[in-house]
Amino acid sequence: MTVLVRLDPEWPDSDLIESAASIIRNGGLVAFPTETVYGLGADAMNEAAVQRIFEAKGRPADNPLIVHVCSTEMLGTAVGRLSEKARLLAERFWPGPLTLVLARNSKVAASVSSGLDTVAVRMPGCRIALDLISSAGTPVAAPSGNTSGRPSPTTAAHVFSDLDGRIDMILDGGTTNIGIESTVLDVTTDPPLILRPGWITREQLAESVGQVEIARSEEELKRSPGTRHRHYTPRVPVILIEQTTPHSLGEILKRHLKHGKVGFIGHSPAGLDDPRLQAVILRNDARDYAHSIYAALRELEDQGAQLVVVQGISDKGEGAAVMDRLRRAASEIIRNSE
Ligand code: TXA
Ligand code: MG
Repeated sequence: MTVLVRLDPEWPDSDLIESAASIIRNGGLVAFPTETVYGLGADAMNEAAVQRIFEAKGRPADNPLIVHVCSTEMLGTAVGRLSEKARLLAERFWPGPLTLVLARNSKVAASVSSGLDTVAVRMPGCRIALDLISSAGTPVAAPSGNTSGRPSPTTAAHVFSDLDGRIDMILDGGTTNIGIESTVLDVTTDPPLILRPGWITREQLAESVGQVEIARSEEELKRSPGTRHRHYTPRVPVILIEQTTPHSLGEILKRHLKHGKVGFIGHSPAGLDDPRLQAVILRNDARDYAHSIYAALRELEDQGAQLVVVQGISDKGEGAAVMDRLRRAASEIIRNSE
């Protein structure tokens, strides 16, 4: 049975946090909110507990997990010595949506790192998450709390719908603030290498430590095993329109409406009055897209859309992370529609 526990995100009840922490200490699984998406947590030092994460999610064993810590002392138990750049980045961006790939401390369960000699670590910027980790007294390994292949969860209800009966507890702290996953930065190399774009942008990182590269080649991406797997495979095809005008958008939607129910997520009202069209209109803005995109995709799927058309945004700044996720989700990308 999966117990759902509601918590005040600002002032979480300490007895309820302690009951979740004792599950973690005893090798169980607790889903919890972070500022990015909900995570599915287990004691990162307990091999059997970490195995349960992979089983519950149906996650391939070669896709390593992020370890969450609540203090620099706890960080020391999970990683080797920090380089000067790693220390600067942790100081500047933690707690927050930046994951650092560092040398692994051998006390961390081997399957957390899927056999690599590195470990990905972050300190989440969310009171419930920090209280849980601190109360558990151990680093918490936590991938996103979805079944492997589904969009990351931004509400407790999303976790419940994917993992009910497979995990012990879900801490419900409301909708997550950011809505897409953290930036993953490899700092075992110099210059540091972005393995997964996220809310912390390359420009922000460069302000702290100078040159930062973005992984592009196959060779570089091999260092981020997660990117070998499609980020998620929607139940229905997603068509991404990178840039378009409202006119061409209408044409594309009309074409697909001939064949059934169509979902639309975009920032231009589609201008079509068709009962088979279900539209979610967002602001033309990276924050609004990040915050709402996964929930909108789940909702349109649940409402029976046979396909979802997504209107993209500029991939400057934070938009790069949003567009990265949309390109991975898309089965078709329309680059230059007329
Ligand atoms: O915002 C987030 O990062 C959320 C919350 C819960 O913290 N977590 C998350 O975890 O998105 P997950 O498992 O869905 O994604 C982890 C990513 C994967 O792309 C994985 O390949 C990469 O981090 N990763 C983990 N350990 C790594 C390592 N040692 N070296 C390179 N990449 C690693
Ligand atoms: Mg994930």
